[in-house]
Amino acid sequence: MTPAEQSLKAAEICRLAPVVPVLVIDDLAHAAPLARALVAGGLPALEVTLRTSCALDAIRAMSEVPGGVVGAGTLLTPADVKAAKAAGATFGVSPGATDRIIAACEDEGLPLLPGAATASEIMALLEKGFTVQKFFPAEQAGGAAYLKSIGSPIPQVKFCPTGGISLKIAPDYLALKNILCVGGSWVAPKDAMLRGDWAAITKLAAEAAALPRA
Ligand code: 3PG
Repeated sequence: MTPAEQSLKAAEICRLAPVVPVLVIDDLAHAAPLARALVAGGLPALEVTLRTSCALDAIRAMSEVPGGVVGAGTLLTPADVKAAKAAGATFGVSPGATDRIIAACEDEGLPLLPGAATASEIMALLEKGFTVQKFFPAEQAGGAAYLKSIGSPIPQVKFCPTGGISLKIAPDYLALKNILCVGGSWVAPKDAMLRGDWAAITKLAAEAAALPRA
């Protein structure tokens, strides 16, 4: 799968909803109810970060939930890409991008949303064919104002910014023409997961799903 084909798929996934939940799952028992709660609230695209020991099993469990489109985040190595694909991930997200990760996603046929934070990184990914990229860490790297500026010389690259984004500031990003969606963990707070308060998570998801986009 070429980078251009991967970006087409990534764009399709990013357009499903204004927010992609970024999920850190510590307990496998949370995976399916969490996915159901988020999908019920209107957020079908779900990024499960490979930062916990049960993340791959969580991807497997969440992939069974009707309406969910489950991807793997925090891809750092070709082995992560292989494992994510084997677990059923339909897309991958990496905080940055390396030639090895990109080659692995081409080989595995896993659509990648590769991370970039500077004009040169964005241009290097564009040269390879990635027209849809993750902007990370969004708030720390310059926020919505930075992405607006990048959109002048490089309008053909569209972004999913993540890192430090909340319901309150998401509209600043979503108002920009070069933003397809934002990513964030605020829709799945740890305390709500520990309490099993899936209704609270559905409510947060519904608020996020109702955010207007440009
Ligand atoms: C991440 O990979 O941690 C994401 O960017 C989520 O960031 P957040 O927790 O600040 O929303």
